[in-house]
Amino acid sequence: MPANEKPVNITSYLQEERVFPPPKDFSKRSHIKSLAHYRKLYNDSIRSPEAFWGRQAKNELVWFKPWKKVLQWKEPFAKWFVGGKLNVAYNCLDRHLNTPTANKAALIWEGEPATPGKPGEERTITYKQLHREVCQFANVLKRNGLKRGDRALIYLPMVPEAAVAMLACARIGAVHSVVFGGFSAQSVADRIHDSQARLVITADGGFRRGAVVPLKKNVDEALTLNDERGNLLAKTIEKVIVLRRACNEVHIEAGRDVWWHRELDRVDAHCPAEKMDSEAPLFILYTSGSTGKPKGILHTTGGYLVHVKLSTRYVFDLQETDLFWCTADIGWVTGHSYVVYGPLANGATSLMYEGAPNFPEPDRFWRIVEKYGVTILYTAPTAIRAFMKWGVEWPKKHDLSSLRLLGTVGEPINPEAWIWYHETIGGKRCPIVDTWWQTETGGIMITPLPGATPTKPGTATLPFFGVLPEVVDDKGNPVPRGSGGKLVIRKPWPSMLRGLWGDRKRYQEAYWSEVKGSYFTGDGCRQDKDGYFWIVGRIDDVLNVAGHRIGTAEVESALVSNHKVAEAAVVGRPDELKGQALVAFVTLKGGVKADQSVRDELRNHVAKEIGPVAKPDDIRFAEALPKTRSGKIMRRLLKQIAAGTEIKGDTTTLEDFNVLARLSSSEE
Ligand code: WTA
Repeated sequence: MPANEKPVNITSYLQEERVFPPPKDFSKRSHIKSLAHYRKLYNDSIRSPEAFWGRQAKNELVWFKPWKKVLQWKEPFAKWFVGGKLNVAYNCLDRHLNTPTANKAALIWEGEPATPGKPGEERTITYKQLHREVCQFANVLKRNGLKRGDRALIYLPMVPEAAVAMLACARIGAVHSVVFGGFSAQSVADRIHDSQARLVITADGGFRRGAVVPLKKNVDEALTLNDERGNLLAKTIEKVIVLRRACNEVHIEAGRDVWWHRELDRVDAHCPAEKMDSEAPLFILYTSGSTGKPKGILHTTGGYLVHVKLSTRYVFDLQETDLFWCTADIGWVTGHSYVVYGPLANGATSLMYEGAPNFPEPDRFWRIVEKYGVTILYTAPTAIRAFMKWGVEWPKKHDLSSLRLLGTVGEPINPEAWIWYHETIGGKRCPIVDTWWQTETGGIMITPLPGATPTKPGTATLPFFGVLPEVVDDKGNPVPRGSGGKLVIRKPWPSMLRGLWGDRKRYQEAYWSEVKGSYFTGDGCRQDKDGYFWIVGRIDDVLNVAGHRIGTAEVESALVSNHKVAEAAVVGRPDELKGQALVAFVTLKGGVKADQSVRDELRNHVAKEIGPVAKPDDIRFAEALPKTRSGKIMRRLLKQIAAGTEIKGDTTTLEDFNVLARLSSSEE
């Protein structure tokens, strides 16, 4: 949003009065049993963060070498557990081997049915087995030249090998960058280029609603793509390791591509875990920002693991017998922190599902819950709204009584969906944890603790230990309770991003310059009289479409890279199912006729450039876009047009009023 258009006041109109105290018998058995207990621990963690986190890091993790200093803070650069050495894979696997957890299931996997009508495949992998697989694959990585500090790009379906690949990288001290399997060859190439990755780990294909997603083919294409100057984007790639999954035909380039299963025959299962510095990079995960180029969010070792381990245990009140199902794909941060690292560090059983929630039928999730006896379900509001639309008959067909706790993440949950989730899925007995956090924060930041915090539909409630959020005005001053403002975090926390890969300046600008001395989240927020945080959505040009973060600028640059497009502006419009939908206003080059075929072409073009998740829902052609006299596109007006609301507010800087009139009447 141009500087002159910043919202001065973010108002939230949502008034939700219902309060749901934690069920008594739930509290009795949970780790944190009362609000008073939470407050005491929280206040400690804020008053003396170093003592608090030092204690947690010592209790929770196995260190090869103790740290010298808990926190070194030179704004905006944090180092946690300075001088300490540990290994993430060791903490997720080896440490459980001489305990009763050794033969417990680490992962329970349900595959997408390869053919409609057939049940999905099933695999259960114990901690001991997972340890063995990770050690073997770590040796495969080494055999293929991957070393400590090198980057590996992971582009896999939701199969156990995705977790194996991540943990194997962590074991040898390599840095992984997982790219969501729904992203395009272009996205893969851009990420390889930015991270300078040496190796790609992929599969022949993945299943999606019975069809095969040609992952290896996309990688092949990615490895041939050039930048604008004609230089190969992915020139750093030396090897491609290919998992056989869908058994579709693929090209194997001699000398470069190797089969995962063949490589396994050539290694043993002995692979010591590297002793990594607490601040050694663990992973890079690319996410949308308000400019065209995705940001490589960097997370490191010790602080990240302490925070995700602790938050998994307390937010989901993990108990020994739980079966934890986080439905996120490992291509997103939620999959990193709450499918893989958080649950495994806790010795929990994590369920992984490969496919779509409505394949072969809309009861797939409920079938899985019943089949395995899932106790904790963590999913996204957009999925919940889809379930509502598909109808109660689908969950009603199944016994969901194993569930004891529900969670949501990814976007604000509307109270109607919250109540539906509570009643229809949770049978009114399961608390709901609405967890607010970001790729950048690494782990959950604002959340109820299910045995302690009374919940209200639509709010993520109160901060997690060690997190100090505040709602501030444009000058950075706290606003009174009840008023809207920008959400900032005042103090560093262990799992915070350490920077953007290779771009210190952008890190500083994007997060630490908007509000002096604080981390700026990009979200608008309001605190109610009880101090609960109500997120009202992004205030920069990042949209949340079906729980996926998409930068409007990214979609715009994809659109203008098509030779028919002169100019494009992308805005969000409220959407009942997806939260927000993408609306693109496009001016075509002279002589190009605006019609449905161009519209289709542009939508496919965006899918090719970024991935199907970023396809505009609506493309509107315009002869011109509304601009200020200084030439900035007035997105505020476009948003109102897209939403079909009346144009309100100041239009005095508008250059040409006729443009507005034409746009408003061009609605389909
Ligand atoms: C939004 C996902 C309201 C928010 C873990 C944030 C939420 C962005 C919630 C991060 C929630 C996430 N309530 N809004 N419980 N959780 N968001 O990086 O706008 O994919 O800034 O991380 O999602 O999305 P990201």
